Amino acid sequence: MQFHVTRSTAATQRTACAVIGIHDKAELTAAASAIDQKCGGVIARVVRRGDFEGKLGSVLAIPDPAGAPAERILLVGLGPRKSFNRKALRTATAAATDWLARSAARDAVFFLSQAGVAEVDTYYAGRTLAETVLASLYRIPDLKSGKKAPPSRLTKVGVAVSDRGELNDARKGLADGEGVAAGTHLARDLGNLPGNVCTPTYLAKQARELAKQHKLVRTKVLEEAEIRKLKMGSFLSVAHGSEQAPKLIVMEYKGGKPGEAPIALVGKGITFDSGGISLKPGPAMDEMKWDMCGAASVLGAVHAAATLGLKLNLVGIVPACENMPSGRATKPGDIVTSMSGKTIEVLNTDAEGRLILCDALTYSRRFKPRAVVDIATLTGACVIALGAHHSGLFSSDDALARDLAAAGLRADDRAWHMPIGEDYADQLKSNFADLANIGGREAGAITAASFLWKFTDGLKWAHLDIAGTAWLGGAKKGGTGRPVPLLVEWLLGQA
Ligand code: BES
Ligand code: MN
Ligand code: ZN
Repeated sequence: MQFHVTRSTAATQRTACAVIGIHDKAELTAAASAIDQKCGGVIARVVRRGDFEGKLGSVLAIPDPAGAPAERILLVGLGPRKSFNRKALRTATAAATDWLARSAARDAVFFLSQAGVAEVDTYYAGRTLAETVLASLYRIPDLKSGKKAPPSRLTKVGVAVSDRGELNDARKGLADGEGVAAGTHLARDLGNLPGNVCTPTYLAKQARELAKQHKLVRTKVLEEAEIRKLKMGSFLSVAHGSEQAPKLIVMEYKGGKPGEAPIALVGKGITFDSGGISLKPGPAMDEMKWDMCGAASVLGAVHAAATLGLKLNLVGIVPACENMPSGRATKPGDIVTSMSGKTIEVLNTDAEGRLILCDALTYSRRFKPRAVVDIATLTGACVIALGAHHSGLFSSDDALARDLAAAGLRADDRAWHMPIGEDYADQLKSNFADLANIGGREAGAITAASFLWKFTDGLKWAHLDIAGTAWLGGAKKGGTGRPVPLLVEWLLGQA
């Protein structure tokens, strides 16, 4: 997709489709009035007859409007003027793109952003446009054998700004939006692939692809023997039951000064979570193919950072394996020794995410990171607590938590700060090992986070539980690519 910025008004811009906003109660925007004058008042008439009310996300096409420089006008409802904000802009943009994707138009110019809406400045108008158009055009890499629907004909999309001073802001917004979209797209693809395709080996291969694609990215994949040498007994205890070889994937992006401390992102890469010997119940078990979405978001964030050429050093660490039952699998009651030296009593083999992450967090220390953020589909309890709207955000560092939450708000990829602490960690006490891997029914998301916290002494660390946000069920079943937008927004602020 080719994105561009134009200073032409709706009254003068030649395009296959001018995308024009109308507010609730049929209130014309300035762009709508401008193009309406060119085409003899057709918009005003359509609106007066009640054919278009401006409800948020509604669309109505006017083909071949006589007198207008555009071949088509697409009216898009923006909802009430008073409550117009970034979210409304995204909804309207997505609705317009869905229409464009099915139309014959090869290019379009969007006239939706408006003066005076603080939340939607010129930068965000560009950013939102690129992100939303690309997200709306995303198609699941399905394995259906029938004929594929033809791809959308749309290849060029513009955003209109009113003065020269805004050109650069809009361009920067478009470029950042494209970077976010590239990372999100990768994360969605990896998540949506089935577990028999997206194995630990496949994830490692994709990480190597990133190194081929970006000259500032280097990928190293540690095999089982090397993982054993590192004494990652906790990670390996999860991998044990599976025929698939575990991988420890390390991606380094060096966009910053040599020697500058990197940011570390650690992603849970369980390519299928059956629960292991503590086998999960059957219904919806297929969804555990998405248990590698933390890993996918790390690959996505590295891809985005490299695409954008962010001036920082970044290291992505992904412990990847399957969690399966077998004669070799870890059993409830088994005690394993983590890389940190701490011993862990595995009371439930389905609480495996924390077992692979604790070793990856310990491994991250060798990079002397200035901050470490782990991302994991860690607990069903987090889905119960926050649903699909917020990711769970946990940290021992309030400033880091504040930055991440703020980035989530700006990126429309929200996270909610939750507590951790000793009283929760006490629930993990064991008579047989340094700690148990489960802490009872109460506060499940928090005890899981507090387990990880126990391995992060001296690190500036945060944890994102994306169990509720990484994929959607129902008719829209599929990966969301979250929290790539949050992560990239945060990285943009760190660069
Ligand atoms: N991958 C799951 C968490 C999960 C469950 C994510 C449902 C999304 C939807 C994780 O490995 C897990 O099984 N957690 C257990 C922990 C429990 C045994 C303490 C859970 O949440 O039930
Ligand atoms: Mn599990
Ligand atoms: Zn899991």
